[in-house]
Amino acid sequence: MKGRHDQVRAIAWQDHKLRLLDQRILPAQIIYLEYEDAPAVADAIRDMVVRGAPAIGITAAYGMVLSAMQHRNTLGWRDSMEEDMATLAESRPTAVNLFWALERIRPLLDQAHGDELIDLLEREAIAIHEDDIAANHSMGDLGAALIEGGGVLTHCNAGALATGGYGTALGVIRSAYAQGRISHVYADETRPWLQGARLTAWEMVQDEIPVSILCEGAAASLMQSGRVSWVVVGSDRIAANGDVANKIGTYGVAIMARYHGVKFMVAAPTTTIDMQAESGADIPIEQRDISEVLGLAGRQHAATGAGAISPAFDVTPATVVDAIVTEKGVVIQPDAQKIRALMEG
Ligand code: MRU
Repeated sequence: MKGRHDQVRAIAWQDHKLRLLDQRILPAQIIYLEYEDAPAVADAIRDMVVRGAPAIGITAAYGMVLSAMQHRNTLGWRDSMEEDMATLAESRPTAVNLFWALERIRPLLDQAHGDELIDLLEREAIAIHEDDIAANHSMGDLGAALIEGGGVLTHCNAGALATGGYGTALGVIRSAYAQGRISHVYADETRPWLQGARLTAWEMVQDEIPVSILCEGAAASLMQSGRVSWVVVGSDRIAANGDVANKIGTYGVAIMARYHGVKFMVAAPTTTIDMQAESGADIPIEQRDISEVLGLAGRQHAATGAGAISPAFDVTPATVVDAIVTEKGVVIQPDAQKIRALMEG
């Protein structure tokens, strides 16, 4: 059930069809695109029609349902489905939720075939989707309890659009706002894709939560002004020692927060924790096409002849993180021991 401060959904599975809200053109246009096969779903993930770690995982799971529907009656169905799984896995490298979701689907391919396999995969994909929304509500309550008033700053979009619904960082913000613990949300615009200005701000406006956009360069002086008590962000992958990969620029925001005595919270489901990655150094960082930095919405604005660097994510060391909030509990000042205890608990 969607509440008053929870109106947005990016992924819809209806009548055996996958529909994705095209996040490349939000908020100017609200258009859902329909998908019928897994390679097209992989393209949608790579091209940012759908983005955000949990949303990518959920979408890939539905992609495998489409794969079963397409190949069920063919001789080489199993090979074709393995191929589709590999194509989905190659779409984006950093969000571990993608690989987590595919690993949850893989063993089911041995348990059934034909129409039965479709039913099995569909039930699993829907469960992944619904569990994610439930986890976000739990995180929302746990994270909100840490916030005692004032404004919060967020970076990128870790909202309903980036998840099954409600959001991780924006889930915490939604819950905290509903409880009167937040007076205002500040959204970094988040170059180069403007997830903050386009997506986070749009979500907040839909849900009637007061929001102001700032260019990243304004974050330090905003913190200096005392108007922000917490930074709340999401994550694409958290290493076993608590290092956090998230949208490029998050690391800088964390350093600024520590300098100004502003608390730094990461809200992410345990499906984002990668116990195989010992530290942030083991997390693959996606490098995107430099045209995304040299221009905006397909139009170049940079000097012709200039190069660019285009890492999509950075790693914030655990030492500057005050809290990691998951659906299983909160880890204050994370380290390897505390993360292990959370995952084993
Ligand atoms: O490149 P994007 O838009 O997929 O990056 C998304 C982020 O960095 C989010 O903060 C992260 O995936 C968490 S989403 C709940």
